[in-house]
Amino acid sequence: MNLPDLKEAKVRTNKEIKIIRDDYKVPENMEKIGEGKKYYLKTYGCQMNVHDSENIKAILEDMSFKETIEMEDADIIILNTCAIRENAHNKMFGFLGRVKHLKQSKKDIICGICGCMAQEETVVDDLKNKYKWVDIVFGTHNIHKLPEILEESINKQKQEIEVFSIEGDVYEGIPVKRDSKYKAWVNIQYGCDKFCTYCIVPYTRGKQRSRLPIDIINEVKELVKDGYKEVTLLGQNVNAYGKDLDINYTMSNLLEETAKTGIERVRFVTSHPWDFDDEMIDVIAKYDNIMPYIHLPLQSGSDRILKLMGRRYTKEKYLELFNKIKNRVPNVSITTDIIVAFPGETEEDFKDTLDVVNKCKYDSAFTFIYSPRVGTPAALMKNDLTEEEKNRRLYELNEVVNKYANEANQKYMGKIVKVLLESPSEKEGRLMGYTDTMKLVNVDADSSYLGKIVDVEITDVKTWSLDGKIIEKV
Ligand code: SAH
Ligand code: SF4
Ligand code: F3S
Repeated sequence: MNLPDLKEAKVRTNKEIKIIRDDYKVPENMEKIGEGKKYYLKTYGCQMNVHDSENIKAILEDMSFKETIEMEDADIIILNTCAIRENAHNKMFGFLGRVKHLKQSKKDIICGICGCMAQEETVVDDLKNKYKWVDIVFGTHNIHKLPEILEESINKQKQEIEVFSIEGDVYEGIPVKRDSKYKAWVNIQYGCDKFCTYCIVPYTRGKQRSRLPIDIINEVKELVKDGYKEVTLLGQNVNAYGKDLDINYTMSNLLEETAKTGIERVRFVTSHPWDFDDEMIDVIAKYDNIMPYIHLPLQSGSDRILKLMGRRYTKEKYLELFNKIKNRVPNVSITTDIIVAFPGETEEDFKDTLDVVNKCKYDSAFTFIYSPRVGTPAALMKNDLTEEEKNRRLYELNEVVNKYANEANQKYMGKIVKVLLESPSEKEGRLMGYTDTMKLVNVDADSSYLGKIVDVEITDVKTWSLDGKIIEKV
């Protein structure tokens, strides 16, 4: 058993990051353990978790389990959790209630918890003491050890907790079962060293560590060979890519090399404004296959709050960067993340946030009420805002954000845009996909169009999506 440790999770040393290539192995006696059995995997959280789940699926299939989308049919149920805000916690405990109920009638179901909540000391204490029936708990650093962890739990017939709070290494060669045949997530960097004062991620994901360029580019080349049309380079602050490596190679180099593989679409998330340099903007502007879409989290428009958050930029610097990107990248769409009611946020601070939104007129924004996370510095800061006031600010912000999102969508009316049709829409006979600027579009089309990038004329604009019709080339 290995329990998470908050103190250890905070530590950052100069220890060299190892690239480990041979640590994934399914023990022989586990290869057939899932024969005739099914797994159900539920994923919460960000793209990083979604991609981790693609690894977990492949590992389970290496043990002969088959996927089911009905929890009731499953022999093994795994929950990949997120810890970013309190409501993520509530979701997990709510879900566990359902699994417990199921376990009463189907005793030998195996239940596993992994992901960012599994890295939290207080959560794992609860799982250990109050949820003894949860069979396995594993963290974000040792997903590839799932076969051994499962074996241990089956052999000992008791709860197996294996969570490491070490800074972490880079593991290559972990199998992946991708959810899409056309779009792929590609990790370029794990962990985060920014330690924004409100955020749990540096504790749950460990030290920032970049994969080697050659491993990333080889993965993209394989994807091109397999017919993939789009890759999204993933990291918590991708602009800092390479800074932890002992080579002179940055995110702009990586973007350029990825674009040169010939993949039709390159995306990346998330960009911290801090490390967004001019070279990156140049490369994005230069290559047609780097999509003109940037997620540029603001968090707050108040210099005082940004300082308390540890974001290391000012309102002025943010606006300067924003305008530079808008001016240099034609047709770029920029979205953001904003937190309201951070401890000590005054009405004036909040007005500063609204002011930035009014200036940037974002294509869209994810907005949140600040949620204290145990172990982070902000959780110790005094916050006297009432729930009513927090909700009022969120509501007011959303009104402004939605107004601009709608305006941005309206501009698409009648335009011809390129859309990668990736899956069936909810309505029969229709497919959905995204424009290069990340607008969701629904079109009338049969499944022969799946995986194709087509010209679409926008015929209707809804609040959260666009409708269009395919323009056939003659
Ligand atoms: N690495 C990304 C953010 C990842 S978390 C970045 O730095 O931009 C995604 C978003 O969740 C953050 O941008 C932030 O807006 C929000 N968030 C993170 N911690 C939060 C907290 N404690 N309370 C409310 N929102 C939070
Ligand atoms: Fe969290 Fe800040 Fe790291 Fe983003 S950059 S993951 S907000 S600590
Ligand atoms: Fe959540 Fe972990 Fe992502 S906390 S947002 S799943 S990195």
